[in-house]
Amino acid sequence: MQIDISKAVSFSGPERMKQNEKELESLHKVLVSKTGKGNDFLGWVKLPAGTDPAIPDRIKEDAEKIRSQSQLFVVIGIGGSYLGARAVIDCLSHPFLPLFHGRRAPVILYAGENLSEDYHAGLMEILDQYDYSVAVISKSGTTTEPAIAFRIIKAHLEKKYGKKKATGRIFAVTDAQRGALKKLAAKEGYSTYVIPDDVGGRYSVLTPVGLLPIAVAGLDIEKLIGGARRMMEQCLASAVPGKNPALQYAAIRNALYQSGKPVEILVNYLPNLYYLTEWWKQLFGESEGKEHKGIFPAGVGFTTDLHSLGQYIQDGTRLMFETILSVENPGKELRVPFLEDDADGLNYLAGKRLTEINSMAEMGTLLAHVDGGVPNIRISVPELNEENLGELLYFFEFACAMSAYLLGVNPFDQPGVEAYKKNMFALTGKPGFEEAGKKLRERLE
Ligand code: PA5
Repeated sequence: MQIDISKAVSFSGPERMKQNEKELESLHKVLVSKTGKGNDFLGWVKLPAGTDPAIPDRIKEDAEKIRSQSQLFVVIGIGGSYLGARAVIDCLSHPFLPLFHGRRAPVILYAGENLSEDYHAGLMEILDQYDYSVAVISKSGTTTEPAIAFRIIKAHLEKKYGKKKATGRIFAVTDAQRGALKKLAAKEGYSTYVIPDDVGGRYSVLTPVGLLPIAVAGLDIEKLIGGARRMMEQCLASAVPGKNPALQYAAIRNALYQSGKPVEILVNYLPNLYYLTEWWKQLFGESEGKEHKGIFPAGVGFTTDLHSLGQYIQDGTRLMFETILSVENPGKELRVPFLEDDADGLNYLAGKRLTEINSMAEMGTLLAHVDGGVPNIRISVPELNEENLGELLYFFEFACAMSAYLLGVNPFDQPGVEAYKKNMFALTGKPGFEEAGKKLRERLE
């Protein structure tokens, strides 16, 4: 991957950039020597090199078994427990997979990442009609949304296949020791994978959290880990931002933040990057948004959103900078046909590939937005494949940790998430929360 910050530095001023680069050089040492905030959650740093080969081997075996017995695979999880897998699977899968007759792997469906009754009831109707298996993924093992979804799906599976056969279709990914899911998995005898203690949810895509669903989808997890390892070596080798793209990204995005740009928009031009953008939003939002500080991570998909948010980005309040995630080469080929009468006036494009036109849209938009006062960072990869995605995921993880250190916050906790949980527990009548529930209901009257 390449990073180009040439259309961003002039907005922040070279001084801010230099200052950040200097600070990042020392913060790199802090991360590597594990002396910074949240240092007991740094297991992800060496994960691509330290993965015990027995784990991918076991995942591949289970994935084969799941594929042979399932038309659908339901991933139950929320936040870091599903976004990494969904990001990679969506990037590399046929865009119309459920309708594609040539598919060789189960269609992956998701549950427990929302509380919609219609969504889950609709899912049950689909699960009535197909053979399926399930991964229930929760590091804490106590998160309400996936726990509810699992309760419903487990009952469905047991009714459909009988208790014994259902057990062979359930795969649990959770903490080594703690949590209700760990206890349940042990009691019921589910095939279980462990999330290492020192890896938090949003940094867990290269553990079985991400690797199991990705392997079931028929993708090459070893190549994904290999790509991440390549970026890990680069990120650990140098504390000098000029030689370390993750530090360069951390330095410039903070320089822009310090010059009055509190919103970063991750821009893509391919709809299959939608969930990669969602993963990125979670990674940066949950890691940095603390102590009333942090860049707000937003995402758009162009050219679609040029016809909605494009107006605001070009012309609205000047509060944002853009980071384009650009993919140079497509996997397939489709050209604009020639039309004898040129009735639609598009013959000037005849013979061109859609990617050529998309790239011109990207370049034109980039320059228009820069002219409109929106600084631009451009991250590009030659093509979407497992290696490049592994590289990109690790790049963002490393950049995010360094960026949060530069901001002065702990990248690995999420204290702010507890507030909604407490209120939800109180309002739903969880034992122990009765008094709080009474007070909240009074406020809502
Ligand atoms: O990054 C995080 O830690 C969170 O987004 C979690 O992944 C999310 O809250 C789900 O938690 P759990 O895996 O414990 O169910």
